[in-house]
Amino acid sequence: MQYRLLEKKYQLYDAERDYKLPEKSFRINLLINLAKMTGIRDTPFFQLLLFSKIKNYLRFIVLRQVYINFKNVNRMVNEGMNSNIFNSFMKLGIVLDVISVNENVYSLKNEYQLDERDFSQLIKFESASYPKTVEKILADYKFVEAVTVTNSDSKLGEIMRKKDYVYIKEVLIYLKEINKMDIKQQISPSFSEDFYTDLGELAFNIYTKDNYKKFIENRSFKKILDIGCGNGNYIDIYKGIIGTQIVGVERQTKVYEKLTQKYKDNSNVTIHNKDIIDIHFDGKFDMINMSYMLFYLTYEEKISLFTKLKEILHEEGSIIVCQYYPDFNIHQELIARHYKNWDLISRFKYDICNSILQAEVLLNNMLIDFAQAEEWNSFLEILNFCGFKVDEISPADDTYYSYFITITHI
Ligand SMILES: C[S@@+](CC[C@H](N)C(=O)[O-])C[C@H]1O[C@@H](n2cnc3c(N)ncnc32)[C@H](O)[C@@H]1O
Repeated sequence: MQYRLLEKKYQLYDAERDYKLPEKSFRINLLINLAKMTGIRDTPFFQLLLFSKIKNYLRFIVLRQVYINFKNVNRMVNEGMNSNIFNSFMKLGIVLDVISVNENVYSLKNEYQLDERDFSQLIKFESASYPKTVEKILADYKFVEAVTVTNSDSKLGEIMRKKDYVYIKEVLIYLKEINKMDIKQQISPSFSEDFYTDLGELAFNIYTKDNYKKFIENRSFKKILDIGCGNGNYIDIYKGIIGTQIVGVERQTKVYEKLTQKYKDNSNVTIHNKDIIDIHFDGKFDMINMSYMLFYLTYEEKISLFTKLKEILHEEGSIIVCQYYPDFNIHQELIARHYKNWDLISRFKYDICNSILQAEVLLNNMLIDFAQAEEWNSFLEILNFCGFKVDEISPADDTYYSYFITITHI
């Protein structure tokens, strides 16, 4: 979709109009009840059942962190906390309808309020005489947790090994990192850095690859730079094209070593084990690819990166970014309507994925591997400052989670 058209539609959008959450729709609830009756069986209903529990899984994680981090849950304010973590945590609570805000003072919604004895049980993941809403989110948390640790010999384990579920299972495990959140500072995750590289590869193969191939169908590139190339998912798409030169940059040495092995017979592929901020290029590229990589850089580093890209992108060339953004619901609706994918079931899925996205944004802020979560307006500001503009924006997956953003010189 042309970005100019999207911007025009955005300006005409009535943000005040009533919006009913798909999870509250009668038809969706009917289907969820059918899914409950079908239970743990390998049918499309199981996906619906699992999806219907994800928001409650996150609600429980958020509620527990509220009670760990705030003495007065009716007046949660940022006192000596890390602003990025605090803000994205509160935003997640609002997206999940667990927290409300009034003039920068955040409060826990009534239906989630607990007395002291009960919340100390909740912090320990234990049962107590909780109100019905809290009972329900704890039960759903336990269901989803069982899905993530299930042993592969069980019926559930067998379902979770299928293509439709392998990625979602990894993401649900990843989201559990929020249970270790420190609202004052970034923390180290419980896994090594190549976890994201491998998760990126899984997502690429399941959700992105076919959309990407369609997206570049009528384009051809002679010299490509792939920044933060990970396991080489994008390089693989181009490596067989005669006359195309590909340069990959990957700062993790372990990943770089795997890449040099993988491309040892491809003379048109060169990989550098460097940080993109420190590398210098002599020639120009006609396409520069950056997929799930911008949140590793600070604002200043992104300015210096795009200043460098301004020098090395061919006059007619383009940068293609694949990325997700918080606060993108209106854009999501406009793009999905443009592609005629705005039916109730799809909207139900987008809504759940948007809460996962907000949780990923919190993780981008709270884990030490990242600099800070990406924000759309700040991204546009950097592009404009460095002499670039957004030309086109297309969904990178069928849940309108991430987008391919085509950027060109102003
Ligand atoms: C989430 S992975 C995505 C990999 C791949 N682009 C994809 O979409 O499948 C991001 C990769 O960027 C690399 N990376 C992060 N910051 C970098 C930097 N400053 N310079 C070079 N590589 C970087 C990471 O090591 C990681 O392998």
